[in-house]
Amino acid sequence: MVRKPITRRELAEELERAGICPGMVLVVHSSLGQVGWMLGGPEAAIEAFQDVLGPRGTLVMPTFSFSLAAWNLPPFDPGRTPSRVGLLTDVFWRMDGVLRTCHPTHSFAAAGPDAPTLLGGPVDYEPLGMGSPIDRVRLAGGRILLIGVGHNRNSTVHLAEDLAEMPYLQVPFDTNRDYDEAWYATRPGGGAHRLEIRRMPGSSEGFELLDTLLAQEGIVTTHRIGQATAQFMESEALCHTIVRLLGENPLLLLPAASASEITARRRRYMESLAAKGPSNP
Ligand SMILES: CC(C)(COP(=O)(O)OP(=O)(O)OC[C@H]1O[C@@H](n2cnc3c(N)ncnc32)[C@H](O)[C@@H]1OP(=O)(O)O)[C@@H](O)C(=O)NCCC(=O)NCCS
Repeated sequence: MVRKPITRRELAEELERAGICPGMVLVVHSSLGQVGWMLGGPEAAIEAFQDVLGPRGTLVMPTFSFSLAAWNLPPFDPGRTPSRVGLLTDVFWRMDGVLRTCHPTHSFAAAGPDAPTLLGGPVDYEPLGMGSPIDRVRLAGGRILLIGVGHNRNSTVHLAEDLAEMPYLQVPFDTNRDYDEAWYATRPGGGAHRLEIRRMPGSSEGFELLDTLLAQEGIVTTHRIGQATAQFMESEALCHTIVRLLGENPLLLLPAASASEITARRRRYMESLAAKGPSNP
């Protein structure tokens, strides 16, 4: 793809046209490479978001590192561990005035007046479950923008799985225990603490069908931002819709043809529950 150059001002104008307004709480999932060539680098793209959100708005990004003990990754350090979910996110958490949680698998970064409320306190919640930063975004009336990526990169879908109390979330990645384990420091360079994770978000490959399904439900608007396709939605509407869809079909997000081991194990678990019948969950 030839990457057409785009300026901070042009990006801001396109974000405004997509419906982003001053004062919003906004979560962004992005592929910078899909947007085109951002003049001024990733910093300029982040500043374009902040231009549109204004001083009363709060920008939120995932900075996930997936530092699970079972995957032999070192303990999470909020001042050192890189984000593994995109260049924009890895630049964002390092910028002045940006807060970052110390969650070892699913840390978030945020800047703006709501950032302390969205990110503050101990990381004693399930990674993308109730009480987590992504849930606090929903409760704050937040929005989600997917740029150059689909719903298989939309963390709020995992929140909806948690809100729907999907039993398969209890199946851990770690095959030696009935939970997952991760280690983290609460401040840069600090000592490591242990965290047990009981409802770890799984593979999101099955979320791809939501790109069509949610557009049909009318809760997502589609836009062009630079050269990328973008999808914009309200977090609460998204969760409400997915909870309903999961009520109709609990296997919706666990495709039978999945190549992922965790999805196959979670699907088998759901099938074993169904075989036992409703009185013996
Ligand atoms: C994995 C993923 C990040 C890859 O997207 P990507 O566009 O290839 O990578 P990044 O967003 O990290 O951007 C890096 C790219 O931007 C390019 N880049 C660097 N400076 C740039 C600039 N000024 N303007 C545009 N692109 C630039 C880099 O060269 C790199 O491209 P390359 O790999 O072809 O060399 C993306 O597909 C994705 O999944 N994003 C969402 C992640 C997420 O939110 N996950 C949470 C739920 S699981």
